[in-house]
Amino acid sequence: MKVCIIGASGKLGRYMIQHALVRGYQVVGVCRPKSVSKLDAFRDRMTIVPGATNDRDVIQRAVAGCDGVLTVLVPWGLQQYATGTAQAVLDFARKDARLVFSCGWHISRDGKDNYSWLLRMQERVLGPVLRALRVADLDDQWEASRRIFASTTRWTVVRGSDLEEGASQGLPVWSRHVGDPILASNRTRRVDFALFMVAALENDALVHEAPAIVGCKTPSALAHQMP
Ligand SMILES: NC(=O)c1ccc[n+]([C@@H]2O[C@H](COP(=O)([O-])OP(=O)(O)OC[C@H]3O[C@@H](n4cnc5c(N)ncnc54)[C@H](OP(=O)(O)O)[C@@H]3O)[C@@H](O)[C@H]2O)c1
Repeated sequence: MKVCIIGASGKLGRYMIQHALVRGYQVVGVCRPKSVSKLDAFRDRMTIVPGATNDRDVIQRAVAGCDGVLTVLVPWGLQQYATGTAQAVLDFARKDARLVFSCGWHISRDGKDNYSWLLRMQERVLGPVLRALRVADLDDQWEASRRIFASTTRWTVVRGSDLEEGASQGLPVWSRHVGDPILASNRTRRVDFALFMVAALENDALVHEAPAIVGCKTPSALAHQMP
């Protein structure tokens, strides 16, 4: 399988490269030119396409011939970065390619998520602050997600809980709605978020799903998992 990882030099991206290489996939990675050196450890085992991830020409070149595309959606700046990235992937990936996108729990597919007051407060306060500082625009990640949900491609939007570093605990468990008891621990190892993204490439049951994930060894997962 040939996969393209967009946002390859970030923390999530580098974990996804590792998982993809372990599976024997051929890997193409897109990252900002100034971040290419972050991929030195993989340089001879993958193809690197330097460029902004919302540059349509860059994405068109990178996804050519790929069976799967893993995209880290990040709402940096006020120039619709995430939306530009998502739209380019939707437009240029092969029509039968598996497209897997990352975002956070705050994105809701059907409005049926039941957020804690803390999560609601974080988004309400953090969103305007980040926008005022011109650092990030959470509405951009929302718009990107809306376009993905509306598309007829073979997409999955993986919604990450709060993240932590640490050794892999295994494939996270998931549920359709934040607020479901299995997700209550709100904690996933970043390496396992990446594992879920890569595993989703070959899991057709996740096509047109927006799984909210949590670590498989967290108390809520252990309490509510099927035996
Ligand atoms: N952090 C969390 O707690 C959390 C929680 C839930 C879900 N998520 C989701 O997980 C995914 C990865 O998030 P992460 O926090 O772990 O970050 P990450 O993997 O380190 O990725 C950050 C990405 O953003 C790029 N980037 C950083 N600053 C940028 C800028 N000014 N302009 C353009 N691109 C820039 C980085 O590229 P360079 O390598 O070039 O800097 C990298 O590709 C995201 O989809 C996020 O929504 C995160």
